[in-house]
Amino acid sequence: MRGVVFRGLEELAIETIGMQEWDELLETYAPQGRVYVSPTAYPDEELFALAQGVASKLDKPLTEVLAIFGQSLFGFLAKKHVGISSKFSSFEELVVSIDSVIHMEVKKLYDEPNLPSITTTIENDKTIILKYKSNRKLCFCAEGLLHGAAQHYNRVLRIEHPQCMHEGADHCVLILHLD
Ligand code: HEM
Ligand code: ZN
Repeated sequence: MRGVVFRGLEELAIETIGMQEWDELLETYAPQGRVYVSPTAYPDEELFALAQGVASKLDKPLTEVLAIFGQSLFGFLAKKHVGISSKFSSFEELVVSIDSVIHMEVKKLYDEPNLPSITTTIENDKTIILKYKSNRKLCFCAEGLLHGAAQHYNRVLRIEHPQCMHEGADHCVLILHLD
């Protein structure tokens, strides 16, 4: 995962557990003197270990921390790449463009990024079905990112997750219900 994602986790961690506890986690789970640079790739295991560390310190399940992380990550990524995120005038427009526009642009900016495969189908004006597939299985983070996006457009979003890679499925199915 790119440094930009670690920086997002770092920002959230400092807000929630504080700088000292975050430094402790870095000492435990990252090589000595590690500094996360946005475009550089670092091992996924390191991100998972740090996220698990934050979860343990907050006494919350990892899935919950990944969801909160995803939500703050949206704002972080959107701010960092305003040129990409400002292209969309609505939540719906953004969501159907994740794979074809947003992550496509990311592929131009970063060398061989690790991105999920996301496909969307608009069911009706209040429902979008999103299929998520990635060997990193960060579907909870995707849920958080989607909540972050909904917040950005002042929309109320409820997500159902009836099929999940963590339960052995080939891909996750997220049903997005908009008010
Ligand atoms: C990675 C989903 C919007 C840039 C990821 C990952 C997920 C994801 C789940 C983790 C990798 C994986 O699962 O395999 C989403 C969703 C979005 C969204 C659901 C909207 C609701 C954005 C935006 C940007 C962005 C707005 C920036 C313009 C990136 C980058 C990575 C990433 C840089 C890391 C790539 C790497 O580590 O190599 N995205 N994303 N995403 N996304 Fe998105
Ligand atoms: Zn899932």
